[in-house]
Amino acid sequence: MNMQLKNFDTVSFLRDYWQKKPLLIRGGLNPWDDPLDPDELAGLSLEQGVESRLVVQGEGGPSVDHGPQDSERLSKLPPSDWTLLVQAVDHYVPEVAALIEPFRFAPNWRIDDAMVSCAADGGGVGPHYDQYDVFLVQGAGKRRWQIGAKCDETTPLVAENELMLIDGFEATDEWVLEAGDILYVPPGYAHNGVAVGDGCMTYSIGFRAPARSELIAHWTDHLIDEMTEDDRYSDPSLAVQTNPGEIAPAAIDELHAMVTEKLGDRAAFARWFGEYCTTPKYPDVDWQPDEAISAAGVQELIGSGAALLRNPACRCSFTRDGNGALTLFLDGESYDCDGETAMLAEAICSADRIELGADAETGKAALELLITLINQGSLAFEPED
Ligand code: SIN
Ligand code: CO
Repeated sequence: MNMQLKNFDTVSFLRDYWQKKPLLIRGGLNPWDDPLDPDELAGLSLEQGVESRLVVQGEGGPSVDHGPQDSERLSKLPPSDWTLLVQAVDHYVPEVAALIEPFRFAPNWRIDDAMVSCAADGGGVGPHYDQYDVFLVQGAGKRRWQIGAKCDETTPLVAENELMLIDGFEATDEWVLEAGDILYVPPGYAHNGVAVGDGCMTYSIGFRAPARSELIAHWTDHLIDEMTEDDRYSDPSLAVQTNPGEIAPAAIDELHAMVTEKLGDRAAFARWFGEYCTTPKYPDVDWQPDEAISAAGVQELIGSGAALLRNPACRCSFTRDGNGALTLFLDGESYDCDGETAMLAEAICSADRIELGADAETGKAALELLITLINQGSLAFEPED
């Protein structure tokens, strides 16, 4: 499935709306073809390791139950006012993974995953705001979306619980979305989606943006892991001070440099960040072959013109340094690449289906990279029909 956005101009969207203001895109993904039905979503939510929430609106406010869900409970839900939300459905359902492809005008590292919800009439999580950009794609059924003001930590909440519902939410705009309609909501904007009728399926294509605190905490943790206790302050040319109480400017300079030299190492930071942002969130979707593939096996399949598929749970990106050298980051590992291997790395990062072509030149390094990635389950040859 190769979907393209309609009624949408990427350049003007990025200029006028991205991270700035909400946008309704009527018929953005038309004709709409349901990638999964409510029963399939409910089935997924029963599985171990699949993150889900069941939100039921009640007299005393909403209740939230985390997955794995219970099939008994799901079969006895009230006729209205509930929603079941399942995280990272793109990892399990290739047709849902295909829904992310039209949004790859944003780089891979900014894209998170596709959450899918199924709601009965009146169902929804309630008015809230998220820290991330989201495209809310309407599937089967209808949902009324309301958009409110831009919020921050000072916005009053109903309660400090996981739903973070906004107290006194006021809608500034409101639309009913139908299959193929899309609502883009930038970070911080209040929004409230309520199902209109049963069988309301919403696909949320979510983005990620690291908090400065998260970056500093994880980058310094990484640096600390690589440091030894004997890497410490020393002053072999210590001079007598007039007042022993003073921490001399030269000592402060030296101590400060000990910290900033390490923290400011851009090349080390780039490698760490590539590995960090491609580390899988969920250890799932095992594509590892039962028997390891050999170099001869890979060459034979390439020779036959077979295409490679990228595991939908695989996260990949690359960086280029000032000299053009390319480092591939894939599922938390880094691979230094040049020449033909660099071209292969770029092909892997640019699409979820990679056509090398029957006459592709695969030298030793590129072949080794392919074997590693296939045997660890990141790539697989497309099965013949
Ligand atoms: C949904 O109800 O499917 C989306 C929830 C949200 O607004 O984050
Ligand atoms: Co939201």
